[in-house]
Amino acid sequence: MTERTNASSGTTSTLPPWRPLLKGAREREGRQPAARWLQLATTGLDGTPRVRTLVFRGWHGGDRLELYTDTRSAKFEELMQQPQVELCWLLPKAKQQYRFRAKWLREEQNNNAERWQNLSPQGRALWGWPPPGLPLERDADFPEQLDDSVALPENFLVVQLQINRVERLHLTHHPHQRTLWCREDDWCEQKLNP
Ligand SMILES: Cc1cc2nc3c(=O)[nH]c(=O)nc-3n(C[C@H](O)[C@H](O)[C@H](O)COP(=O)(O)O)c2cc1C
Repeated sequence: MTERTNASSGTTSTLPPWRPLLKGAREREGRQPAARWLQLATTGLDGTPRVRTLVFRGWHGGDRLELYTDTRSAKFEELMQQPQVELCWLLPKAKQQYRFRAKWLREEQNNNAERWQNLSPQGRALWGWPPPGLPLERDADFPEQLDDSVALPENFLVVQLQINRVERLHLTHHPHQRTLWCREDDWCEQKLNP
């Protein structure tokens, strides 16, 4: 594992070995917005799969990934019922796919007000729209921006996911490389058939 010292706090944190690999792959994508898009799969309330795109918002420590969503969306109910999820992150220029198995840490709700303030006014606007997934009403209001004076809304949710298993598929070489890391094995690397 990679030892990293946090200059501001002086604490040492340990990065799992897949983090620098993912960082390198993300750098290959340049400033493409799509390099921050990943797919989140949940289990629907009827037990069938659901998948959608979300924006990667950052890391918490070495192995927790953060997303932002709306508590009025279907995925919130799904996460409440089944906090185990899968994420798929495709980095096309790097020809790499990362699949994460993760668990929603429901109790972890830190600094939501700060994160809300750090969003752009356009980025915040979605939380001011009518409830996602309901029938569109003719006179509904969809603000284009929510400015800095708008306080943290109740429907803004930071989803912190504890990553427990990572699989990376790298298509550049022959044969393709498929690698597995599990948290319960201290992120020990295992090579798999592609
Ligand atoms: C490029 C892209 C980025 C998106 N980012 C987010 C996001 O960060 N958070 C979010 O809740 N929905 C995001 N969405 C919308 C979701 O894909 C989805 O339509 C919405 O969250 C409702 O999903 P649900 O009904 O399954 O809960 C994004 C969609 C696209 C196309």
